[in-house]
Amino acid sequence: MWPFSRRHHSKANQHFKPVVLVTGCSSGIGLALADLLYKHTEYRVVATARKKSLDKVRAQFQENDRFVVRELDVTSDEDRKRLILEIGKLWGGIDVLVNNAGISYRAVVEHMTSKDELLQIETNYLGPIGLIRLVLPHMRMTGRGKIINVSSVAGMLAMPTMSSYSASKFALEGACESLWYEMRPFGVQVCMVQPGFVHSNSFMNVYHTDQSDPTRNWSGPYKDFYQNMTPFISRMMNMSMTTPEKIAKIIVDVIEKENVPLWIPATFDAKLFYYIRRALPRRLLLPFLYWCLPKARNWGRGFSHKR
Ligand SMILES: NC(=O)c1ccc[n+]([C@@H]2O[C@H](COP(=O)([O-])OP(=O)(O)OC[C@H]3O[C@@H](n4cnc5c(N)ncnc54)[C@H](OP(=O)(O)O)[C@@H]3O)[C@@H](O)[C@H]2O)c1
Repeated sequence: MWPFSRRHHSKANQHFKPVVLVTGCSSGIGLALADLLYKHTEYRVVATARKKSLDKVRAQFQENDRFVVRELDVTSDEDRKRLILEIGKLWGGIDVLVNNAGISYRAVVEHMTSKDELLQIETNYLGPIGLIRLVLPHMRMTGRGKIINVSSVAGMLAMPTMSSYSASKFALEGACESLWYEMRPFGVQVCMVQPGFVHSNSFMNVYHTDQSDPTRNWSGPYKDFYQNMTPFISRMMNMSMTTPEKIAKIIVDVIEKENVPLWIPATFDAKLFYYIRRALPRRLLLPFLYWCLPKARNWGRGFSHKR
């Protein structure tokens, strides 16, 4: 039986407390998950945050012999290595890695810079995959382990003004699909939890480039894209019935389940898109989604030289 389930724990192995590492615990899904795991005493937990948010997380949780708060900027190779080494010495290694930390740029391709692209990819892809590399040896050696990545609907479908975010999630999805095959013989499970719109304030944490910055009064050929997509996304997030706490609960279920699928669409819209994408041929899917976007037929009007 999967040794990470509470049922198993209570019956068979009183002493084994799986070690769970969660990234990005200062807000949203990460904070909700840390909060849930704080109460699940059958796990040992490493809740991590960047230096700037460490005090906030430490103020939320009382550290004890099974719950510690540690600094981790996922983009830092040094931070990642130092943390995994420390946890190895403290508790032997990581049994469950939850790659949750992430950022989201809102800008059309033309308005992104190489620096912006790199930060997006480092945070959502290179950092998580770097952590995965560091925890795999222990998982392989113990013959069990779970890699849980908080991906997104944007990892299955791309939307305008979110190219770089989608690229980062597509990259993680692709690498972890490959990892699923690589880890199957070793008993390590890989899972992509894919939320769609979540009812939270995380849209306030969106990153902008100089040209997509809303405080600069959008103008030019992409004005309509920003003017329509930004309120559309906020509206969808506000209307969503899914909270960060619900996603956190799904992640705890994934930790506990004996066998988990590679993909778990985690909100109503994520399930809808998951099946639409499979049911509709791509040549119909893209025009259909374009038609669904707010006032998309008017976008770029007055600036287009389309023949
Ligand atoms: N909310 C949604 O609608 C939604 C939908 C689909 C997928 N997701 C995914 O869910 C995950 C969590 O997002 P959320 O909605 O909870 O957003 P959030 O409230 O903005 O939280 C993001 C977390 O990531 C941390 N973070 C950012 N950059 C980091 C770095 N370099 N190193 C370490 N931590 C870093 C932030 O910490 P700081 O305090 O240090 O900035 C924060 O704790 C992300 O991977 C996101 O892509 C969210």
